[in-house]
Amino acid sequence: MSKVTVVGAGNVGATCANVLAYNEVADEIVMLDVKDGISEGKAMDMMQTAQLLGFDSTVVGCTGDYAKTAGSDVIIITSGIPRKPGMTREELIGVNAGIVRNVAESALKYSPQAILVVISNPMDTMTYLAYKSLGLPKNRVIGMGGALDSSRFKYYLTQALHCNANEVEGLVIGGHGDTTMIPLARLATYKGVPVSQLLNDTKLAEVIKATMVGGATLTGLLGTSAWYAPGAAGAYVAEAIIRNQRKQIPCSVALDGEYGESDICIGVPVILGKNGIEEIVKLDLNAEEKELFAKSAAAVRATNAVLKEIKAL
Ligand code: 2OP
Repeated sequence: MSKVTVVGAGNVGATCANVLAYNEVADEIVMLDVKDGISEGKAMDMMQTAQLLGFDSTVVGCTGDYAKTAGSDVIIITSGIPRKPGMTREELIGVNAGIVRNVAESALKYSPQAILVVISNPMDTMTYLAYKSLGLPKNRVIGMGGALDSSRFKYYLTQALHCNANEVEGLVIGGHGDTTMIPLARLATYKGVPVSQLLNDTKLAEVIKATMVGGATLTGLLGTSAWYAPGAAGAYVAEAIIRNQRKQIPCSVALDGEYGESDICIGVPVILGKNGIEEIVKLDLNAEEKELFAKSAAAVRATNAVLKEIKAL
């Protein structure tokens, strides 16, 4: 039996659970929240779509009862406050650090073998906090930011190319921040053709910029953080693990010399399978991309340093 827990039944957590159930990624999906009745209500609502949508997964909701999450293969952490318009993801660190650590520790007590997928922001720093504080091997701590940012990159590419969303390839590495993410335009393709042959420099620069502020654009429109794509990205990462798909997905992972960085969690392409991170893929970056990656890592490291200042680590 496969089981996934989603901690936090807000917009992102509930969307993630819904996608997991609809795609029958696990036999059982547990949603846990601190707010009384929210998870139970959303789980019941989802279960009432089972016949309409034709899925067999069971969704269970609970309020703070970690015993119900016991034996999970994957634990997805969405807890914490989302950003409001004008806020950066980094500004959430003080509140979210305490929540993420507490949630991860509580969930792991009941599922000591689980693989953690971190969605809470600032995502790279929350992943780093989980990695440094929980004593898990690095293959079991994964931040989902790159999956989301790459999906947004492909969205903006398809808009510019007027093409089908499933026919472009592209990846975003670096931090999951408005100024730290690196959409790798050089490696993006449409049906095997480099997009740099199809879009001029101005258009490509617009796609890159739109991708980088993709989350902020939605926060401006919605008044809170986005949820459909973040939730689906979390489910996409969990599916690769549960089904041992060995998909290559950019995720925030602990580096140990790869890409010239250590003691940091930051986005790079990895192969995801039943053990979590099966392999870190080493891209041959050019000089400009290497420089952007080093700058991104420095910015992520500066946010990580706040964890020590606020004694969260
Ligand atoms: C986003 O980029 C919530 O960080 C998430 O929309």
